[in-house]
Amino acid sequence: MFGSMGGRVAERLADKVCMVNGAASLIGRAVADRFAREGAVVVGVDKLAHSVGEQVVHADLTDESAVEAMYREVVRDHGRLDVIYNNVGLMDRGDRSVLEMSLQTWRNAQEANLTSIFLACKHGIPHLLATEPTGGSVINAASFLAAVGSATAPMAYAAAKAGVVQLSRDLGVHLARSGVRVNAVLFGPIETPQQREILQRDPSVLEKRLVHWPMGRFGTLDEAAGTIAFLASDDAGFITGAAIPLDGGITEAFTVPE
Ligand SMILES: NC(=O)c1ccc[n+]([C@@H]2O[C@H](COP(=O)([O-])OP(=O)(O)OC[C@H]3O[C@@H](n4cnc5c(N)ncnc54)[C@H](O)[C@@H]3O)[C@@H](O)[C@H]2O)c1
Repeated sequence: MFGSMGGRVAERLADKVCMVNGAASLIGRAVADRFAREGAVVVGVDKLAHSVGEQVVHADLTDESAVEAMYREVVRDHGRLDVIYNNVGLMDRGDRSVLEMSLQTWRNAQEANLTSIFLACKHGIPHLLATEPTGGSVINAASFLAAVGSATAPMAYAAAKAGVVQLSRDLGVHLARSGVRVNAVLFGPIETPQQREILQRDPSVLEKRLVHWPMGRFGTLDEAAGTIAFLASDDAGFITGAAIPLDGGITEAFTVPE
């Protein structure tokens, strides 16, 4: 079946060189796996030890000289770069209301969620522009929290993700005639152990939240990876500067308990 984990998929990324920045997480790995199954040469990057991708890179994506060197190496080794998926992100435990937050928590969130993507775009996109035929796709991980106001949001994280959305919008429009597309993805809750842990610290939390999730469930890794692969591929050739909701309808909904 097309699109299912382990099943047949279209080979939309045949011979394309695709970076997955922040590859060591479950979503990063699922996307890397999907890219590979669609025919891509995958380069996986993370600051943590990992073995994701045909080429495995260990780098701190907030370190400008490391990021610049990493892209140079990838293009030297593979001769081209076609896709950059910026999965990188961080949600700090101390991240809650601004009124209760330390400056360090704020700075950590901006660095890991926004500066990392700024650097990936600044040093990666020139290689997309230099690859023949000129073009490519950049997909930046944001969150549905960047599209709504929330009474309980981790506010540093949400502000950083809103920055990711605007950066993607600006770059998408700025580069629209170059063939390079830039989009953000507004992730809703995807089934990962971290998500479960956050939501199940207090058992009533998940129950309260589910009321506001129109589909009443987490998104799957397969659904997340399939959407990112679509945006990476030429099938999404007319989509740029967009913030694509991948959230089971959360940002479209007004829901009240029955
Ligand atoms: N999982 C969800 O339900 C959900 C919901 C909303 C948004 N998101 C966003 O989607 C993306 C993927 O989610 P996830 O659950 O896989 O996130 P995650 O936090 O588990 O993974 C992010 C990866 O980025 C890496 N990373 C962080 N800082 C780095 C740095 N400075 N240098 C190199 N690597 C670094 C981490 O090691 C990790 O492997 C994230 O950006 C997240 O904020 C996820």
